[in-house]
Amino acid sequence: MLRDPLFVPKHTKGRPMPEGRFWEKEYSSARVWLAGGAVWMAIGTLAGLGSAIHLVAPDFFANIPWLEFGRIRQVHVNTVLFGFVVQMLIGCALYIMPRVLATKLFSEPLANLAALFFNAGVVLGDIGLMAGYTQGREYAEYIFPADVLLVIALVMVAVNMVMTLVRRNEQLLYVSSWYFAGAIVWTVFMYPLGNVMWHPATGAETGITDAIFLWFYGHNVFGLLVTPLAVGIAYYMFPRIAGAPLYSQALSIIGFWSLLLFYTHIGAHHLIQAPIPTWLKTVSIIDSFAMMLPVATVLVNQWYTARGRFGRFLTNPSAKLMLVGTIWYAIVCIQGPLQSLAVVQRVTHFNNWVVGHAHIAVLGFTGFIALGGMYYVLPYVTGRRVYSEKLINIQYWLILLGLLDFFIVLTIAGLIQGQDWLNGATVYRTVPQMKPYMTLRLAGGLMIITGAFVGVYNVLMTFRKGEPINP
Ligand code: HEM
Ligand code: HEM
Repeated sequence: MLRDPLFVPKHTKGRPMPEGRFWEKEYSSARVWLAGGAVWMAIGTLAGLGSAIHLVAPDFFANIPWLEFGRIRQVHVNTVLFGFVVQMLIGCALYIMPRVLATKLFSEPLANLAALFFNAGVVLGDIGLMAGYTQGREYAEYIFPADVLLVIALVMVAVNMVMTLVRRNEQLLYVSSWYFAGAIVWTVFMYPLGNVMWHPATGAETGITDAIFLWFYGHNVFGLLVTPLAVGIAYYMFPRIAGAPLYSQALSIIGFWSLLLFYTHIGAHHLIQAPIPTWLKTVSIIDSFAMMLPVATVLVNQWYTARGRFGRFLTNPSAKLMLVGTIWYAIVCIQGPLQSLAVVQRVTHFNNWVVGHAHIAVLGFTGFIALGGMYYVLPYVTGRRVYSEKLINIQYWLILLGLLDFFIVLTIAGLIQGQDWLNGATVYRTVPQMKPYMTLRLAGGLMIITGAFVGVYNVLMTFRKGEPINP
């Protein structure tokens, strides 16, 4: 039995699920996007396992071209990013958006069709990558037809969100709806631009111009897509779990606009070691530090909302995931500005330090919030209690411990690599030193993968056997 009454929403009590075809039913699209996210998390982490095995035993998959590191790493990164995190966050947003606007989603069939296109894009993109078809630009590797499918899906979600906004009954726009609509509308423009979709064959410009384009996109896919979606979900859940009003509406809106102001143009901090114009590097470093403003507004606002009521966050498993997600956000965004400095990057760039940052950011911050949001929203959209609270807790611990392992091991490994290179050692000499660290990372990865599979089981069992809420 679930202990926290807030975990089982009052308004779903005794409320029959509407009749009609599956894709027309209220919240059917949220269910599809959430289930899709859970399944892709398991598949994407398996591809991570394939990549991690390579770094311990490079010949393990010898002669199996589609499992080679160069391919499977791309499958891992794109699958966890789009298939898992983006999809699960959108699933939560499709439930939360109509709730905060006191209306129904504009069109359930449209959102379900969008899920079809989105998942077809991920499947096609992944098959292409495994077959060796890639556009070779990080986070933009999917081939053109997959890009087209993803953009069509995102346009459909954007139309749905904007029309839901237009038809709202609640005039006050709660900050979550700003973040959701903003994230999807920005991405509809940013994705084709960053993927250079006007050059379908290569998906790239040439030379250094392309590097600038790529990192404009590569940075914003995190800053203007997954970050605002995750922040919007946390803004919805914090007051509900704390049972208290949001600390400050004004702060929430300052945070929204300052994210747009500072995040959009700091992608060049990925290119501090590259021959791009110096003014671009300087702007990117200064505004990387300015990013502390929007981040602080979010964290202060949410933690102040929970002040004196943190106990509630520890007894409710989805709230625990959410709270820990915000703590990772704080760590990521203290580490981020520091590693944008040239003097720090001299040691940390091009090595496992950055991979550590990437995992605590994408899994720790947005992934934890996606999972917390999903478990919170599931009873509302299925009319059933989550199958097992115990399994959520097991998943939470597996992923948390695995991620802590990643963070510590990869940070140390990165510092060793960076220091060695700075002292003139060749990459060839440092590689053998990495073996114990890569083995430890593999162990942490196995915990995360187990957590992902526990999650899929729990979600699917919720659909099949979750206890109906006051039928
Ligand atoms: C204040 C906020 C942040 C700042 C200033 C920041 C800064 C940076 C910098 C400078 C790098 C490049 C490091 C290098 O290549 O040497 C980087 C990498 C990265 N960041 Fe952040 N970060 C921030 C927050 C985030 C967030 C919230 C996410 C995800 C939601 C994120 C995801 C990533 C990823 C995935 C990479 C790896 C990129 C690659 O593949 O090379 N960061 N970050
Ligand atoms: C859902 C959870 C996960 C997320 C969101 C995630 C995300 C990412 C991201 C964004 C990168 C690119 C990093 C960069 O280029 O700086 C990456 C790379 C990688 N991840 Fe994951 N990951 C997850 C789980 C795992 C697991 C479970 C494993 C291992 C079993 C793993 C192993 C790797 C490896 C080996 C790389 C390539 C690192 C390299 O090139 O040196 N990841 N992951």
